[in-house]
Amino acid sequence: MADAQFDLAGAIRTIPDYPKPGVMFRDITTLLADPVAFGETVERLVAPFRDIGADKVAGVEARGFILGGALAHQLSAGFVPIRKRGKLPHETVRVAYSLEYGLDEIEMHRDAVKAGEKVILTDDLIATGGTAEGAVKLLRQLGAEIVAACFVIDLPDLGGRKKLEALGVPVRTLVEFE
Ligand code: PRP
Ligand code: ADE
Repeated sequence: MADAQFDLAGAIRTIPDYPKPGVMFRDITTLLADPVAFGETVERLVAPFRDIGADKVAGVEARGFILGGALAHQLSAGFVPIRKRGKLPHETVRVAYSLEYGLDEIEMHRDAVKAGEKVILTDDLIATGGTAEGAVKLLRQLGAEIVAACFVIDLPDLGGRKKLEALGVPVRTLVEFE
């Protein structure tokens, strides 16, 4: 059972000027290392999705893998890795995207989801939304129905949540930082 009083934000460490000057890096390794905080996070993220019959949880490398595996297990769904370019061994679909501090490409296996499957997208954090937008494009290209996207952290000033909602994806987040 989730504990509404538990201070999740307090379990997240902030590193100024990482990986570039001016970026306040929100580090979830402290949250993950705390079994109560990690458990709370997973419980709160999955709570609205328990009865929607999700087929798959898709998580974005690297931090989205940690949450995605836990969420998929909780929901009795499969897990689909969305990886940085060049890491997946079978036939892929790929998209380029921009994020708070650079440019990158992500890809997923072409056979990782089937048309019509209900997918929940997850990652630790949404900032500009570039990564999540790229993931949405890949999943939709394969015919998935993205029922929601969920993140531990939202950086609302960077507009990612609004970008995803404008694409018709319901967004759930647990903690906001400026
Ligand atoms: C971080 C984070 C998200 C993305 C969010 O990952 O885990 O995936 O940035 O930024 P955006 O909303 O502006 O796209 P990063 O690319 O740093 O990769 P990592 O998880 O491998 O460290
Ligand atoms: N990804 C993009 N912006 C980030 C931030 N400020 N902290 C951690 N991960 C990020």
